[in-house]
Amino acid sequence: MKELVLFLHLIFASLWIGGMLFLVVVVSPFVRKLPIRDQIFQEVGKRFSLYGTFISLMVLFITGIINAYNIVGLSGLFDLSSAYTKTLLHKIGVFFIIFIVSLTHDLYFGPRAVHSNFYRNMARLLGFINLFLSIFVVYLAARLRFGG
Ligand code: HEM
Repeated sequence: MKELVLFLHLIFASLWIGGMLFLVVVVSPFVRKLPIRDQIFQEVGKRFSLYGTFISLMVLFITGIINAYNIVGLSGLFDLSSAYTKTLLHKIGVFFIIFIVSLTHDLYFGPRAVHSNFYRNMARLLGFINLFLSIFVVYLAARLRFGG
């Protein structure tokens, strides 16, 4: 059961990080040159918002808490003297920033990106910020793997 929860966590982390990297490295440079770029970005953005922001981040949070419980137990989760718990709290903190940035990107700037360059640039900027924060979360996960 423990393995299954960590397995799910890894699959959804791959979908979240992999999806963002695929958008930035493969999709976006090509689509930006097309005349129907706005339509494609809106459609792709809406789909990735559902599978990434809403489904993946929710599953990552639930499986992440269960992973932590499986590894350090309930008392370990509240033991602030442990390096593991401190790094876990940093990870949860960055996760919440990612969640807020994602909602702002998906529900506010993204849908308005067709209207002005300001919204478009803000949507791009927030997308990049999210990618870097998410890569940092994977670094924190690697630290957890070796005790925090
Ligand atoms: C953007 C969201 C997240 C990403 C991309 C992510 C990524 C990862 C990855 C790649 C691992 C595997 C590391 C390993 O054990 O080798 C991992 C493990 C883990 N994650 Fe996450 N995670 C995310 C969110 C969370 C959240 C919100 C929590 C807690 C509430 C969490 C708790 C954990 C725990 C406890 C482990 C096991 C670490 C260990 O080996 O001791 N994760 N995560």
